[in-house]
Amino acid sequence: MYSTAFLDLPPLASAGGTVRLPGSKSISNRVLLLAALSDGVTDIADLLDSDDTRVMLAALEQLGCRIERLGDSRLRIQGLGASLPVHQGKLFLGNAGTAMRPLTAALALLATREAGCFELGGIERMHERPIGDLVDALRQLGCAIDYLGNDGYPPLRLGNGSTGSLQLDRPIRVRGDVSSQFLTALLLALPLVAQEHPVTIEVVGELISKPYIEITLNLLQRFGVTVARNGWERFTIAAGSRYRSPGLIHVEGDASSASYFIALGAIAPASPGLDGITIEGVGIESIQGDIRFVEAARQMGADIRGEANRLHIRRGRWPLQAIDLDCNHIPDAAMTLAVMALYAQGTTTLRNIASWRVKETDRIAAMAAECRKFGATVEEGADHIRITPPGPLGNGAPWSTGSIHTYDDHRVAMCFSLAAFNPAGLPVRIEDPRCVAKTFPDYFETLFGVCHAAEDAIPVICIDGPTASGKGTLASAVAQQLGYHLLDSGALYRATALAARDAGVSLDDEPALTRIAAALPVSFQEERVFLRGKDVTDELRQETTGGMASQVSRHPGVRTALHGLQLSFRRLPGLVADGRDMGTVIFPGAPLKVFLTASVEQRAQRRYKQLISKGFTAKIDDLLQDLRERDARDTTRAHAPLKPAEDAVQLDNSHLSIEQSVQQVLDWWQGRTVFAAR
Ligand code: DC
Repeated sequence: MYSTAFLDLPPLASAGGTVRLPGSKSISNRVLLLAALSDGVTDIADLLDSDDTRVMLAALEQLGCRIERLGDSRLRIQGLGASLPVHQGKLFLGNAGTAMRPLTAALALLATREAGCFELGGIERMHERPIGDLVDALRQLGCAIDYLGNDGYPPLRLGNGSTGSLQLDRPIRVRGDVSSQFLTALLLALPLVAQEHPVTIEVVGELISKPYIEITLNLLQRFGVTVARNGWERFTIAAGSRYRSPGLIHVEGDASSASYFIALGAIAPASPGLDGITIEGVGIESIQGDIRFVEAARQMGADIRGEANRLHIRRGRWPLQAIDLDCNHIPDAAMTLAVMALYAQGTTTLRNIASWRVKETDRIAAMAAECRKFGATVEEGADHIRITPPGPLGNGAPWSTGSIHTYDDHRVAMCFSLAAFNPAGLPVRIEDPRCVAKTFPDYFETLFGVCHAAEDAIPVICIDGPTASGKGTLASAVAQQLGYHLLDSGALYRATALAARDAGVSLDDEPALTRIAAALPVSFQEERVFLRGKDVTDELRQETTGGMASQVSRHPGVRTALHGLQLSFRRLPGLVADGRDMGTVIFPGAPLKVFLTASVEQRAQRRYKQLISKGFTAKIDDLLQDLRERDARDTTRAHAPLKPAEDAVQLDNSHLSIEQSVQQVLDWWQGRTVFAAR
């Protein structure tokens, strides 16, 4: 997951390969609640692990539910049945509407029946998302509910600590035209109290997002409760309803998340040797309404082959074709159409999307503002958006790029990553990329796994310099800040030296050393380095290993043998490479090359402190001499000697803190990006 302040996507050229999507958010949170309210034990497989499900799990645990983690994305829930062991509590629900609404309904009913009292709240945005229609419906039933902030919005107090009687004998009326989640909340909660009488819900106003109600009804059935439906206006829950665990339940891949990869397949040219994008874990038999995004994408030109649990997407018609579509049935996935519209001929109109205004952010305003950054003409109305792309397909204006503000809205961030295929070859900056954690924590990693860029489009920052100049610390911090990969090229020479020692090869035997380097069994996992599967991270960093590496690195054969391996670290979204010849030999075209220096005395002091703090003994004079010898060997060797590239910027960090050095490099980097002046 990227937790950086922003993530720069270089211009992307093509895509191909297979993705497995995380579990559906809507299904995951419904299943969690149903399993908690059921009799019996439920095992849930492929559950989504994200901010919203974590919030739901924490709430259920707080309510006394026992949850066991069986492994990656598998959980075991001991159902509580229709009553709670805990009768009061304060639940924090973040910005998870799929937790807030159903928990409000369930806890309001249980608090009234069992003399409980619960407070439910979330982050600031949650307190701006309406819930009044649900509260009105629950009050009709006799539930005591207070607004603790503004009327009509969370936070809420449910119940007042005394029992009340629930009036279940007349139909409960709920509005359906603001959010379908109010009806879902009632449908999930009312079976808990539908014992003597059937309970009927009547929807007031045209019900929006009907597919989400279908998911709810489908899952109720899986948990043993049948609801009789009369059109979309009347729903009746049978008397004597009781949730029963289905035993094991699998969560489908998220169909809304699939929309980004469907769009990707439709927009991106196929990568050489790959036949478009395959999505595993969700297919045309999905119970999620957003699967109908497939039809909308086809209308725009995508070539999609659907199987029960899998989708294959290729670029079909190109450029894409503008559409005019009522999007009421795919409210979330429709945002992806807005970005596809940037690649479509003509003006695309997305209608009946008023619900966008009350989601994670005002999504109509957000999509309009961000599409305009690319040069599109956008008209926004109360419940529609109309997008004319830049360029010859649309308004004729040149493509531009921008820093995409993401409004703490995962979907805005995911949608606009697709703008990196813009025909102008401009990079796209995504601010606060961490917001995708709401539903798809590894979204960008998954995207990079199937996208390709021209090699020279993937940015590299080179940091070269002498031993103990602090390159490693600086490079790793810069990589961390930018979300880039890291190449510690010295580690490859060090690993070659260790492998040679293990094989009993002399450090002067160039042919043998070259053979070792050419098939170096080295691998990297997070911060650790493995040689033949053995963790050698600590050994690698020892002074003696550094000395051996310096000798090994003199041989041109070894350097050539390690060349390709070093190039392979240049992967999306970018690379920070540290070493001696990153800027001069390995990445001569890199857009930023830093040559780091510090006086040999300063470096000896730093190394001395570092060794002492680790409990090693050291003598300053020995270190000084050793550094001088290594500098001499590294700078005077015939092949790729240590020297600044002609276009390198020099950074003497003798009197700079680590933070100051990092900031300096980041400032230089910012100054070189197209986002500099923004
Ligand atoms: O950066 P370091 O101390 O881990 O490097 C160990 C040795 O490897 C160093 O003395 C020189 C050599 N080296 C090199 O020749 N070229 C590189 N790009 C990196 C390291």
